[in-house]
Amino acid sequence: MQIIDQKSTKKAWASAIAQPAKEFPLTPLPILSGKIPEGLRGTLYRNTPARLERAGMRVGHWFDGDGAILAVNFTDTGATGVYRYVQTAGYQAESAAGKFLYGNYGMTAPGLIWNQWRKPVKNAANTSVLALSDKLLALWEGGHPHALDLETLATKGLDNLGDLNEGLFYSAHPKVDSQTGEIFNFGITPGLNATLNVYKSNFTGKIIQKSKFALAGIPLIHDFVLAGKYLIFFVPAVRLKILPVLLGTSSYSDALKWQPEIGTQILVIDRETLSLVSQGETEPWYQWHFANGYVDPSGAVIVDFTRYDDFQTNQYLSEVAAGKTRTAAKNRFTRVVLQPQTAKVTAIETLLDRTGEFPNVPQQNVGKFSRYTYMSLFRQGTDISQELLNAIARFDHNTATLIEANLGENRYPSEPLPVPDANNQQSWVLTVVYDGNFDRSEVWVFDSDRLDAEPVCTLGLPSVIAHSFHGTWKSKNLV
Ligand SMILES: [Fe+2]
Repeated sequence: MQIIDQKSTKKAWASAIAQPAKEFPLTPLPILSGKIPEGLRGTLYRNTPARLERAGMRVGHWFDGDGAILAVNFTDTGATGVYRYVQTAGYQAESAAGKFLYGNYGMTAPGLIWNQWRKPVKNAANTSVLALSDKLLALWEGGHPHALDLETLATKGLDNLGDLNEGLFYSAHPKVDSQTGEIFNFGITPGLNATLNVYKSNFTGKIIQKSKFALAGIPLIHDFVLAGKYLIFFVPAVRLKILPVLLGTSSYSDALKWQPEIGTQILVIDRETLSLVSQGETEPWYQWHFANGYVDPSGAVIVDFTRYDDFQTNQYLSEVAAGKTRTAAKNRFTRVVLQPQTAKVTAIETLLDRTGEFPNVPQQNVGKFSRYTYMSLFRQGTDISQELLNAIARFDHNTATLIEANLGENRYPSEPLPVPDANNQQSWVLTVVYDGNFDRSEVWVFDSDRLDAEPVCTLGLPSVIAHSFHGTWKSKNLV
């Protein structure tokens, strides 16, 4: 845990997470500019690590914040919003105690070191969301998802999706095939050597197929790729030193070590059988997120992702929790070409030499070629060691060009989510913006073809929304 540093000068982004975010009930949202597009009907959900402090103590890492879900409904009569903490057992226990009780990714549990092993890690339910027909899942990669009511965001409880045994985790980056409704995901079970569990669910979320693979050591795997008929895992060159974690002398985050000598391990898995097609190895890098993958006409697998040359990004993200960063974690939007039958990498190419995060493609293109990738970026000229992502952009793979939204000084957009229009071929880009000039949050809607123009609509939110990782969109008519 970190003691709050009150004295040093902080950047504008820090104010959004200086205090725990305040919930609000279902509330009509004022239109601040423009109008809501007629074909934009449905709900934006975002998961936000919203409480990074209790009783004057800060969490150790941005990943440790308690999850709160924002829902913004776009209807024929206007927009409404609701913001609710996920009522996890850990959140409720710490609320009752008025202090931190548990360890987490970036913090050991308070108290005597010899007593650490008795205390479970808190499921923070803070990373992403998956909208199903009858429930919203709040995802966290070290445990089971929490199910919430799609409208009220009331927490129903932990959900095992029909077949998640105790000890099987469900990561925060499921991949949904929009045509088949199948949902693929994975979970890492730690041990002396970790196990990679791979899951296939039907459209309701119910797990219908599982498989597992032994890994060397305990790596950190945050995301994976659906590429045509394959599931691809790049296992980064990071391994957990488990002993200090078990002894309670180190957090998970501090015990994760960059080991470039072991390279990046590649697993290619058949999406039908969930069996191994091939495995291989390539040069070391670290990635949190993949944009997308697909099989090109030659049969090669194309994987686009945000590539770091080392694991300094984890240090930077831990510093975010304290409200002041000093570690630069540069990356590049990168493409890997590999042969699925051998897992041999035949090309590694930089698509865009800009530091960014949260790359994604329209939901209907997941696993297939997508002309456009959306992402958050640092504006050019930004000091990336001190700032938070402050721009959103769309990369056009056909022309290798970028269009970028300039939101102005001290404004921090969330991951941009492309959303199809219900009436035509048009699409919109939704982002939740923290405006550090006025200490308030807004929802901005852009025309996806005109990200460099003014937003078509902006909506006011009743309270500041914490900076967030991931969200999703649920169209009104989708069940
Ligand atoms: Fe993520």
